Amino acid sequence: MSEKPDRNLALELVRVTEAAALAAGRYMGRNDKEGGDKAAVDAMRLVLNTVEMDGIIVIGEGEKDEAPMLFNGEKLGAGVPPQVDIAVDPIDGTRLLALGRQNSLSTVAMADRGSMFNPGPIVYMDKIAVGPGAKGAVDLEVSPTVNLRSVARALGKEIRDLTVVVLDRPRHDKLIAEIRKAGARIRLITDGDVAGALMTAWPESGVDMLMGVGGSPEGVISACALMCMGGEIQAKLYPRNDDEARRARDMGFNLDQVLGLEDLVRSDNVFFAATGITDGELLDGVKYYPDGARTHSLVMRSKSGTVREIVSRHRWNKLMQLSEVPY
Ligand code: FBP
Repeated sequence: MSEKPDRNLALELVRVTEAAALAAGRYMGRNDKEGGDKAAVDAMRLVLNTVEMDGIIVIGEGEKDEAPMLFNGEKLGAGVPPQVDIAVDPIDGTRLLALGRQNSLSTVAMADRGSMFNPGPIVYMDKIAVGPGAKGAVDLEVSPTVNLRSVARALGKEIRDLTVVVLDRPRHDKLIAEIRKAGARIRLITDGDVAGALMTAWPESGVDMLMGVGGSPEGVISACALMCMGGEIQAKLYPRNDDEARRARDMGFNLDQVLGLEDLVRSDNVFFAATGITDGELLDGVKYYPDGARTHSLVMRSKSGTVREIVSRHRWNKLMQLSEVPY
């Protein structure tokens, strides 16, 4: 790499997620997943291309839902150093947005070139994530009950005080039953496990852990955020069927490997930004006014460990003179 990305690129990335959230927020509750996604993707691409970097998308979206996407391998930025890997999730929770539900976010992460794990066509990962207080206390290879005990001990809580976020899917019936039996509280979410992972490292959210199978791109993006926040995530590729497992093995993926934080993003220089689209525990959603809008974002950098909350007030009369995005 010709230059380390030593400036805080996350402060530039927040303009990217703000733009995506401002554009996508218009679609709240309109039951138009594709429309919302396209608005976020277009705005995100436009602003990412203004960032002074030589970026390549390692984690794009669309493998799962064939959404209009920022595709893997797409080059972005002004084409000048630093050389970086980019992970995007223009909307985590497209369905949440389409139905006007809580916790849809726009996120972007960035790290040194060659440092992000590329899950290829493997859509899902089994994941376990915790915040800084329980770092080192989880192991994807042991049972949920053992992990709950160990996290409770690390946090100085009883198991019944723990809150675990789990995606509400039939594939989690056994997991949910085991967590219930162990006595922990469960926050079943319909979508959005990036927000779920972030919440584990956000004390005000009251969430202690995330467990279960979710998107692989979301797993890598969550790893970038948790790297910055001092938390931990472990993940294992989770093929949907024998055919996908065979293809993954043929491509050289080790399906037995537990991927730790450093496997998911091998860099001590990671940047992450997220902007709320709909209201949630973590971030406020976009608010529109006659003369502008308000956004609420998180901006982080792993090297410093600083997590900034940024509330921005956007003024249409000024913004529309500069922006190509029709907010
Ligand atoms: P999208 O916003 O891309 O639709 O993803 C939403 C999401 O809930 C992710 O947060 C999660 O990782 C994944 O989908 C789970 O996949 P599935 O809905 O197939 O169980």
